[in-house]
Amino acid sequence: MAAPEKDEIDLAAQETVREARTRTAPLDDNALDMMFNANRSFNGWKDDPVSDDQLKQIYDLMKQCPTSANSCPLRIKFIRSDEAKEILGPVVMERNRAKTLQAPVTAILGFDHDFYQHFGTLTPHRPTEMKERMEANPEMVPWWANLNGALQAAYFMMAVRAVDLDVGPMQGVDKPGMDALYWSGTKVKTAFIVSIGRGDESTIFKKLPRFEFEDICELL
Ligand SMILES: Cc1cc2nc3c(=O)[nH]c(=O)nc-3n(C[C@H](O)[C@H](O)[C@H](O)COP(=O)(O)O)c2cc1C
Repeated sequence: MAAPEKDEIDLAAQETVREARTRTAPLDDNALDMMFNANRSFNGWKDDPVSDDQLKQIYDLMKQCPTSANSCPLRIKFIRSDEAKEILGPVVMERNRAKTLQAPVTAILGFDHDFYQHFGTLTPHRPTEMKERMEANPEMVPWWANLNGALQAAYFMMAVRAVDLDVGPMQGVDKPGMDALYWSGTKVKTAFIVSIGRGDESTIFKKLPRFEFEDICELL
């Protein structure tokens, strides 16, 4: 099969990757510890504030990662001010409340079940095709929203770690209550919340076991 024709924008994108690959290398052990091996889910926070610039940087990293047909269904509310925390408190389950309110920032992550309205912007080369497909097959919508929303939520947490901040993810929240408070008039559904800041090491629990490669991977 002949390679599809490339326009100037495709060629510029290819050049961006080629150039970046002249500068990049596998992460070193320190970076791998920060992103994966030594990092943990935190239950308490140091006082260090989280700036607007850091939140923007986290978003700008997260948004680059892939979703099906570039559907990008994740929506985020960042809770940082005392007033916003006062509203958040009652819709966080008791066992998660104190640590959430103590965090410098908590992100409420929601998945937009109306994501397919934005394909005109997100897939300009095929502006109507995906929208029509979702409208003809509405059972695809929650599946796409949840799969791609969860992917973006995971990218989000890794982006937080990439800027050397820590995460405390929690789904112990009143989801219908949060939907009413934060996503009223939309089709966004609350997924979970992620506290962000410099984690207090004294608040982590013992590390739970993980499956080994041999336990759950098969090389065929
Ligand atoms: C989607 C999600 C929901 C979670 N919900 C809660 C929660 O409600 N309360 C809580 O204390 N921890 C919660 N956790 C934290 C997990 O228990 C924790 O990430 C997991 O045990 C791994 O811990 P580690 O990263 O410290 O190794 C949640 C984590 C994720 C990713």
